[in-house]
Amino acid sequence: MSAHRTAPALVPRPTEAALRPGHFTLDRSTALHVGAGAEPAADLLGSLLAPATGLSLGPSPDGQVALVLDTGLGGLGEEGYGLTIDPHGVLLRAAHLTGLLRGIQTIRQLLPPQALSATPQRGTRWLLPCVDITDVPRHPWRGAMLDVARHFQPVSFLRRYVDLLALHKINVFHLHLTDDQGWRMPVAAFPKLTEIGGHRAASPQGPAGSDTYDGVPHGGAYTRAELAGLVRYAAARGVTVMPEIEMPGHARAALAAYPSLGNHPERTLDVWTRWGVCDTVLGVHDEVFDFCRTVLDEVMDVFPAPYLHIGGEECPTTEWTHSAAARERAAAAGLPNPGALHGWFLGKIGDFLVRHGRRPVCWAETGAELPPDFTVMTWRDPAHTLTAARRGHPVVSAYYRATYLDYAQSDAPHEPPAQPGAVVDLRAVHAHAPVPEEADAQAAGRVLGTQAQLWTEFVTTPAHIEYLTYPRLCALADRGWSGATDWADFRSRLDEHTARLDALGVHHHP
Ligand code: ACM
Repeated sequence: MSAHRTAPALVPRPTEAALRPGHFTLDRSTALHVGAGAEPAADLLGSLLAPATGLSLGPSPDGQVALVLDTGLGGLGEEGYGLTIDPHGVLLRAAHLTGLLRGIQTIRQLLPPQALSATPQRGTRWLLPCVDITDVPRHPWRGAMLDVARHFQPVSFLRRYVDLLALHKINVFHLHLTDDQGWRMPVAAFPKLTEIGGHRAASPQGPAGSDTYDGVPHGGAYTRAELAGLVRYAAARGVTVMPEIEMPGHARAALAAYPSLGNHPERTLDVWTRWGVCDTVLGVHDEVFDFCRTVLDEVMDVFPAPYLHIGGEECPTTEWTHSAAARERAAAAGLPNPGALHGWFLGKIGDFLVRHGRRPVCWAETGAELPPDFTVMTWRDPAHTLTAARRGHPVVSAYYRATYLDYAQSDAPHEPPAQPGAVVDLRAVHAHAPVPEEADAQAAGRVLGTQAQLWTEFVTTPAHIEYLTYPRLCALADRGWSGATDWADFRSRLDEHTARLDALGVHHHP
């Protein structure tokens, strides 16, 4: 830690932090004082520090490192914590277990970066600087979306991905499980979703519209046990996994598996081998809603998260316009035209989820078109955040020019292939204010926060995912957790934080 600092170089920046002279040293004599209900936090701290330090940090009533739950600490909310380190001990306090889990990530960052290594680090003294920290997040939603539909990733990598989210106090892992090019979650009643829908014959080379293909089949699906295990693993780190099942568009993989769900039941379709927006969408007949409800029942079984994302964007309505059955459905439902079936479809599914105690989430095209129960993710334009919030929707700001990590992070020629049309540099991510300036207090209060998106049309490997994600996710975490706007301060903290990413072996952008 540099000598001139008055606050430690943490990412995200804590609300209040003051360095004091002196250190506390973790060594073989250090034990944990584990307050009632804090056992999961003690387990996490022990398991995170053991590989590098070799310390076992067992429990003891007079342990020097105290983890304490105190529901009287009202001002800290669900995720806040207080951390005091003096030469004699460490006191981490929170009102909820999640707050302790956040504080543990801070303790990790306060140690020398070698503490984050996966292998034993001999010859390092495990010094914690004396510090007083009170830390409460600015926004309750700090998310990261990973698209495993375009390119499948093994669950072992998803666990590592969750570890890195937790380090940055990102609390929502949005898992994009289905799309035109692949369906990755098994559903017992519809085995062909993964057997057929989980595999495509080839991938395009180049952006949407490209006519050259790699000729290499791509596929993969998780088991239910893997997904349930991922949910538990993330929960132990204070991260919620929010699944996304796309409907009624971006559903070509499901249509390849079950053509009767489409608008032309006699047609056979392949799992899409193009990128972009696909014209083939789900039909609007009863069988489709039975299918969606059955799928979502299983999704709710595996994913206990309150929020469940059903996609909803980029749904061409041409097939409905040309289908007599869809036109009849629209008329019977009293809709002005088949295009209105889009909102009607989402409304039916949203009602179903609400009846089951869940909160439906959708991508907004404009912020003005979704049924009222939806939490919306605005991605096309920051103005949509305001539109949606003023209509009463809870909103997560996902503006593409600040949060889409599939765009290159610089215009340098050595950058790997990326989504064309924009550069999203580190500074743009850090500068992104989730709450629009024009928002009044009521609208501002509906903005839950922000999240990063990594669509993977051009991204096939874990190393490439990490290259695109870091350090840009550090910037998003900083802005989302602390509201920090000082770019120079972030840059200087990031310089020290980079040593932590290196110790973790993260393949980050230089
Ligand atoms: C999106 O980028 N399709 C939400």
